[in-house]
Amino acid sequence: MPLDTIEAILTRYSCRAFTDRMPSDEDLRIIARAAVASPSGVNRQLWRVIVVKNKELIADLEAEGMKNLAALPDLPNRGTYERILARGGKLYYNTPCLIVVPIAQAQPTGAELFDCGIVAENIALAATALGINSLICGLSGFSFAGDKRVEFKRRLGFPDGYEIGIAVLLGYAVNSGGKPHEPDVAKISYID
Ligand SMILES: Cc1cc2nc3c(=O)[nH]c(=O)nc-3n(C[C@H](O)[C@H](O)[C@H](O)COP(=O)(O)O)c2cc1C
Repeated sequence: MPLDTIEAILTRYSCRAFTDRMPSDEDLRIIARAAVASPSGVNRQLWRVIVVKNKELIADLEAEGMKNLAALPDLPNRGTYERILARGGKLYYNTPCLIVVPIAQAQPTGAELFDCGIVAENIALAATALGINSLICGLSGFSFAGDKRVEFKRRLGFPDGYEIGIAVLLGYAVNSGGKPHEPDVAKISYID
């Protein structure tokens, strides 16, 4: 039985170690359907939902992303690179599958990012409900930050005018996986 909505929200966590096991096509279909059910401002839907199971393509995205991240000279990005190295040197954590969400620019510019974030969370929550682990992977942007940007856009079938928005990794956690972060209820206030 799929988890109910609140349980899925409260139990989702970022998975950073995946086994080779591929989610079923049926589950991926349900997750992709949940993605395109996302709300967007004025229903603009300036996104696509691209389910990627191709091992070679994921390996190429991984290699290019790490190469581009390593090449960045400035200090904040250096910190990111070192954090990724400390976690095993992988942006995609050996995921067998991911959903790439390219986006086109909205008016006002930037509004598409809200929509993209909602798509990512719909994917992660639908996956959780089905017992599939996930990671919203903003650093996937580094795979598109160098010479292979156009090649990857072509291999993934981005429509003209679309750029990488986010990728969400999907699979099954190694061992028992992780835990959600401790929600900070002190951030909540009520005004009666
Ligand atoms: C927009 C966005 C981008 C993220 N990008 C990455 C990423 O590239 N790599 C990574 O390991 N985690 C990434 N995360 C996961 C966050 O680090 C994680 O959500 C946060 O630490 C809270 O942990 P939890 O998801 O387990 O509750 C991203 C999360 C969001 C919302």
